[in-house]
Amino acid sequence: MQTELLESYELQHAAELLKKGEVVAFPTETVYGLGAAIFVDDAPRKIFAAKSRPADNPLIAHVSSIAQIEMITAHLPEMFYKLYDAFFPGPLTVVLEKALCVPGVVSAGLSSIALRMPSHPIAKALIELVGQPIVAPSANTSGRPSATSYSHVIDDFEGKIAAVIRGDDSQIGIESTVISLLSDRPVLMRPGSITKEQIEKVLGCSVLSPLESDHSSAPVSPGMKYRHYAPKAPVLLFYDKAHLLSHVDDASRKKKLILASEPFVVCDMDKSMVLSQKSLYGALRLADKELFDEVLILCDDKIHGDAALMNRLIKACQTADKQP
Ligand code: TXA
Ligand code: MG
Repeated sequence: MQTELLESYELQHAAELLKKGEVVAFPTETVYGLGAAIFVDDAPRKIFAAKSRPADNPLIAHVSSIAQIEMITAHLPEMFYKLYDAFFPGPLTVVLEKALCVPGVVSAGLSSIALRMPSHPIAKALIELVGQPIVAPSANTSGRPSATSYSHVIDDFEGKIAAVIRGDDSQIGIESTVISLLSDRPVLMRPGSITKEQIEKVLGCSVLSPLESDHSSAPVSPGMKYRHYAPKAPVLLFYDKAHLLSHVDDASRKKKLILASEPFVVCDMDKSMVLSQKSLYGALRLADKELFDEVLILCDDKIHGDAALMNRLIKACQTADKQP
């Protein structure tokens, strides 16, 4: 299959491809998404094949209106409207009870649906042109770092999907915050740029972490049990600069990529990059492209204090295919 690279003035063509059941990648403010029209037969299933995504990991429905939200949900609790007023459109995904019309493949057999309203103008316009929600996971091969530029998407999906819409590099750079409103107490299932504290302030109650919730015996968000965001080289976290420097001395024959919140002085073979939510995935992908042997991360106070960034870094360090 020839993958078309489309410009933002070609959204009508992108929408036609989606309505015909094709998979089209598009920019959002968080990361690029790999989209399919929710109600077009067999289209959502193609996403799982293109990404090699396990069938038990459900997709987020991207919407552009409250009417679309009402169409795919069974019930909207009071708390949802508070989050809607405060954070929509933007980088917040909410898990709600699904309507019967949502195809089982999208929700991976669960009775819930995750939804979000992106603020990115291309994503918004595309959903409006298609006239129905677009389901989309992050546009990366399963287990690899997410895509924050159109070229990352092409690296993973050239020849495997119908088209990629070219946009700017993702403004935020990590995936949306995911919160479940399935029970009376909200549960934070994935941290993101909208923080737990911001959500608690809007809802006026505490937000649980998955381990504190009623569902602690089973993974509440199926995606949480898989390894994510990982380059091929091992990723090592250091909480102390002296410890990192002594490792650099010991591993002098290895080609090392060092990420920290400030630039680092390094020797010829090594490279240093400034780490932030926005730069993380580009740096992990560069580690693959330039064949670094190790990625070393200095978790100073600034990085350590960023719950969303730490969540991705810890997952990038895991070496097994699945967490226990
Ligand atoms: O920023 C984002 O959220 C990006 C952009 C493209 O919107 N999308 C994204 O999708 O990160 P994905 O599929 O890579 O991550 C979605 C996460 C997964 O961990 C999945 O298990 C969880 O949300 N999820 C989806 N539906 C769910 C549901 N019904 N119940 C619990 N977790 C769900
Ligand atoms: Mg993902």
